[in-house]
Amino acid sequence: MKKVELNQLSKKQIELIEAAIQVRKNAYAPYSKFKVGAAVLDENGNIHTGCNIESIDYTLTSHAEMVAIDTMVKSGCRNLKEIAIVLKSTAYSVPCGLCRQKMVEFSNSDVSIICVNLDSDEQIKEIFATSLSLLLPYAFKEL
Ligand code: THU
Ligand code: ZN
Repeated sequence: MKKVELNQLSKKQIELIEAAIQVRKNAYAPYSKFKVGAAVLDENGNIHTGCNIESIDYTLTSHAEMVAIDTMVKSGCRNLKEIAIVLKSTAYSVPCGLCRQKMVEFSNSDVSIICVNLDSDEQIKEIFATSLSLLLPYAFKEL
C-alpha cells in the first residue's frame, strides 16, 4: 500500500476519483452511515460507477465496487483495468474480500486500485495506491 499524491496520478485516474466522489453522494447507507463511491475503468477506457446501497436486512447490501463492476458488465464489457474507491474513514480503507474476488472474476490482468480517504469537509485527505494481486494473492480463479 503506497501513499500517493494527486499530482502523481494520471488524468484518467483523477477522472476516476472524481467520478467516485460524485457517485458516493448517491450512496444509500442509513444503517452504517458509511458511504462508499467506486469508479471502474474498463479495457476500452470507459468509466462505470457505483455506490453502496443498504437494506434493513443487511445481507441485501450492495457494495459500491460490486455495483460499479455490475454496471460495466451490463454495458457489455467484462474486463476492468483500474478502480477508484472513495470513502471517509479514520484509517485507510480498502475493498473487502468479496469485492476483491469480484474484481478477479472481471479482469484478465492485474487491477490498479486507488483508495481515497476524504476528510470531514468531504475533501481528499489521502490517497493510497495498490493492486489486486497485492490485496488478493493466490486468488481462486480459472487458469
Ligand atoms: N462497503 C462497500 O461499499 N464496499 C466494501 O468493499 C466494503 C463495505 C459498504 C457496505 C456497507 O454499506 C458499508 O460499506 C459498511 O460496511
Ligand atoms: Zn466489498
